[in-house]
Amino acid sequence: MGGFSRSVAYLFTLFGLAFAANRTAPPLGAIVVRSGTAAYGEFNTISAAVNSLPNDQSSRSIFIYPGHYNEQVYITRPGPLTIYGYTNNTSTYRSNQVTIQAGVPASATVSDDSPNTFGVGSQAIAVSQYGSRVGFYACGFYGSQDTVYANLGTQVYLRGYIEGATDFIFGRRGQAYFGGNTIGVTAPGWVTASGRQADDDGSYVFYRNTIVLASGAAPGTAGNVYLGRPWGNYAKVIFKNTVVSVPLNPSVWSIWNNGNENTDHVFLVDYNTTGRGISTNATYRASFATVFDATQAAAYSISSAVGSDYASWVDPSYLV
Ligand SMILES: *[C@@H]1O[C@H](CO)[C@@H](O)[C@H](O)[C@H]1NC(C)=O
Ligand SMILES: *[C@@H]1O[C@H](CO)[C@@H](O)[C@H](O)[C@H]1NC(C)=O
Ligand SMILES: *[C@@H]1O[C@H](CO)[C@@H](O)[C@H](O)[C@H]1NC(C)=O
Ligand SMILES: *[C@@H]1O[C@H](CO)[C@@H](O)[C@H](O)[C@H]1NC(C)=O
Ligand SMILES: *[C@@H]1O[C@H](CO)[C@@H](O)[C@H](O)[C@H]1NC(C)=O
Repeated sequence: MGGFSRSVAYLFTLFGLAFAANRTAPPLGAIVVRSGTAAYGEFNTISAAVNSLPNDQSSRSIFIYPGHYNEQVYITRPGPLTIYGYTNNTSTYRSNQVTIQAGVPASATVSDDSPNTFGVGSQAIAVSQYGSRVGFYACGFYGSQDTVYANLGTQVYLRGYIEGATDFIFGRRGQAYFGGNTIGVTAPGWVTASGRQADDDGSYVFYRNTIVLASGAAPGTAGNVYLGRPWGNYAKVIFKNTVVSVPLNPSVWSIWNNGNENTDHVFLVDYNTTGRGISTNATYRASFATVFDATQAAAYSISSAVGSDYASWVDPSYLV
C-alpha cells in the first residue's frame, strides 16, 4: 500500500492511489478533503487534513474529492499515511481527477540541493522526497526541470506518468524503482540526473517504462534526449526493457558539463532498450555508459533498488 512516512515533503499534480477498480467514495476511516466544502468533518485543503492527523505511528488515510488544490503539502508524521485521489479507474493516471499544484516557487522547497544550472523561476519540482517506503501508484507528475526529486529513502513509482525536460528525475541518495510508467519528454534534455556522490545504496532502477515525446514538446526535442547525465560522479541508473519512441541522441547518455564531466565512477546502464527512438548501432554510445546482457541485468530489480522486503509495503497490483 502507499505509505508515506517520516519527514516527507512533497507536492505533485494529478494523482490517484487505490486498489479497487474505482475510488469514488472515501474508504472506511479516511479523512475527507473536498474543495470548497463547508461540511462538518471535511477539510478544504489537503494540508489541513494532514495537519489534523495525530503525530504517531498509527496508519491513516485521506480521500480527496475531485478538484484543483493549490497548495504545498508537507507530511512529517511518523506513521503510514495513504492518500487516495478520486478516480473512476484506479489502474491509470489518465482518469485522475485530483490536481495538486504548488502556488509558490518550488525552489523554496529544496534550494541548495538542486542540480539546476539554469535560470531560476522555471524550476517546477513536483515531488520532493525525503521519506522511506513511499509508493506512488498511477500518479501523474508534471514539471519541466526537476519534476521528481528522489533524494533519500526507498520509493516506488508505478504505472504513472512523469513529464519534464531537464534532469527531471534527480536526487542524491534516493533508492528508487520506476515500473511501468510513461515518461514524457517536453524539450531537449536529460531524463535522469543521478547525483550519487559515493558508492552508497542509492540507485534508480527503471523497468518496463516507455519514453515518449510529450504533447506540445518543444521543436528540436527529437534526437536531443538522453537517458541521463551524471550530476554526481557515482551516478547509478539502470534502464531495463525500456521502449523508446522519441528519438534519443545516439550517444544515449551524456556528460554532466564540459570541464565537469562526472564520469569517473558512473554506473549508467541500459538493457534491452527497444523502439524506434533507440539506435541499434552502438558506435555512437557514450564511452562511459554500459549495455548489459540478460545475465548482467538480472541483478537489477525492485529488490536491488528498494530492498528485498519490498513486498511488505509495495502494492503488488501495480507491479509490472
Ligand atoms: C464504482 O464501482 C462500483 C462497484 O463496482 C460501482 O457500483 C460504481 O457505479 C462505480 N462508480 C463509478 C463512478 O464508476
Ligand atoms: C471517468 O472519468 C472521465 C474523466 O472525468 C470521464 O470522461 C469518463 O466518462 C468516466 N468514466 C466512467 C466510467 O465514469
Ligand atoms: C481502466 O484503465 C485501464 C488502463 O488504461 C484500461 O485497460 C481499462 O479498460 C480501464 N477500465 C475501465 C473500466 O475503463
Ligand atoms: C525487451 O523489452 C520488451 C519491451 O518491454 C519486451 O517486450 C521484451 O520481452 C524484452 N525482451 C527480453 C529478452 O526481456
Ligand atoms: C554503425 O555506424 C558506424 C559509423 O557510421 C558504421 O561504420 C557502422 O558500419 C555501423 N554499424 C552497423 C552495424 O550498422
